[in-house]
Amino acid sequence: MKIGILGAGRIGATVARLFVAAGHEVVISNSRGPESLRALVAELGARGHAASVNEAAAFGEATLLAVPWHLAAAVPSSNLLRGKIVIDAMNPYKPEGGFYDLGDSTSSEEVLKRLPEARMVKAFNTIYYEHLATRGRKDLPVEERHAIYLASDDLPAKDAVATLIESIGFAPVDTGSLREGGRLQQPESPIYNQTFTAREARAFFRNELHKLADVLPDGALPRALEALGPLRAWPNKPPGSGKSGKY
Ligand SMILES: NC(=O)c1ccc[n+]([C@@H]2O[C@H](COP(=O)([O-])OP(=O)(O)OC[C@H]3O[C@@H](n4cnc5c(N)ncnc54)[C@H](OP(=O)(O)O)[C@@H]3O)[C@@H](O)[C@H]2O)c1
Repeated sequence: MKIGILGAGRIGATVARLFVAAGHEVVISNSRGPESLRALVAELGARGHAASVNEAAAFGEATLLAVPWHLAAAVPSSNLLRGKIVIDAMNPYKPEGGFYDLGDSTSSEEVLKRLPEARMVKAFNTIYYEHLATRGRKDLPVEERHAIYLASDDLPAKDAVATLIESIGFAPVDTGSLREGGRLQQPESPIYNQTFTAREARAFFRNELHKLADVLPDGALPRALEALGPLRAWPNKPPGSGKSGKY
């Protein structure tokens, strides 16, 4: 897959290394321009390139947002990302510490307001970058791998990101829609920065989700449990076929 990456810090650079190692092609960007990313590009090899933010956004079939959330200006205009899968790894931290109060909304829903024609998937935001760098295990069955959560209202986009997650040795675990799953993936949720395997994550959700009823919007709990219920396989394989995991 061709992937543009906005932000070349802890998350952006880590994801770039994992994606090129898995055979994907990346164009990565930061605020200081491609020259400042020479060392990283040399490390990435033939499948890694640096460019401006707009060029990186235009390049990808998918574009990963990995800049500080408050820098709205870092996310390019909507037309560059129209119809593309946008993977939002950002969390709504304030620069001075603490979180923005988004009311009933969630951070990826707020990003989607700026990019209304993007195919938004919230993913990679709950995993600490050092875990991302070190805990991928392609040799393990997907169910036993470290879980990376994803939420989206666009099911084909979610499937594509799930396949990407599997390709770098992690297990995609679906939390549901952008609103309800997105809320489960916010900082301070019980799954945030945990090291669950996919199997442990699903067991945790089934046992613990009801305790979150008061922080979830009306109707979210049954829908979230339903999303976890069926043993659907990624990518697009019937349950039990091959090594691909269930989520
Ligand atoms: N760190 C983690 O473990 C982790 C885990 C999950 C999610 N996240 C989320 O991922 C996002 C990035 O976190 P991080 O820890 O990777 O931050 P970081 O190490 O500080 O990196 C931020 C990157 O964003 C770039 N950037 C800043 N302003 C920009 C602009 N206007 N245009 C283009 N690029 C710009 C920076 O480039 P310059 O250096 O050129 O300014 C830098 O490469 C945050 O939203 C965070 O909440 C972080």
